[in-house]
Amino acid sequence: MFTFYDFYNNEVKLSFSDHPFSTSPKHVWVISRYKEKWLLTEHKDRGLEFPGGKVEEGETPEEAAKREVMEETGGVVEDLTYIGQYYVDGKGGCIIKNIYFAHIEDLTSQPNYYETKGPVCLSELPSSIQRDSSFSFMMKDAVLPHSLKYLKKAQLL
Ligand code: GTP
Repeated sequence: MFTFYDFYNNEVKLSFSDHPFSTSPKHVWVISRYKEKWLLTEHKDRGLEFPGGKVEEGETPEEAAKREVMEETGGVVEDLTYIGQYYVDGKGGCIIKNIYFAHIEDLTSQPNYYETKGPVCLSELPSSIQRDSSFSFMMKDAVLPHSLKYLKKAQLL
């Protein structure tokens, strides 16, 4: 278990064990790869981030993950792997988010990308993300580096 503070100084607990905080989390985040590149979305307010969002009524977190990738990037998920979960003790309440790793088999063009400007493919994730205002706050805490380290160790990358 890792404990740290996010961009807004909220406490975050992160673990790569099997659903440590909740078996029915209400949020999902999908670290996505398409054709050897990272697939992100450009949120209209927050900036560049991996796709994700809230689990809707009657949906499983896996279904939400696939839907959010499609809505925010047009990406069709080929395979989805649960890697971990984190808990944010936010000012407006707590959220629990599943982290997935996904390979995207196709990037379809969508009439709209909901609250985002659509897909952005990057060959590399810059080392300057934390200081880069084009990236979302969600990309700026220790969740992303720990997740990338986990993916490499698990030989998923
Ligand atoms: P909407 O209800 O969709 O307008 O979004 P919201 O931002 O009001 O609510 P949400 O439940 O998505 O998030 C509530 C708060 O939790 C946010 O304002 C953030 O402070 C925090 N939060 C949400 N997702 C993350 C995340 O991935 N990382 C971190 N560190 N904080 C998050």
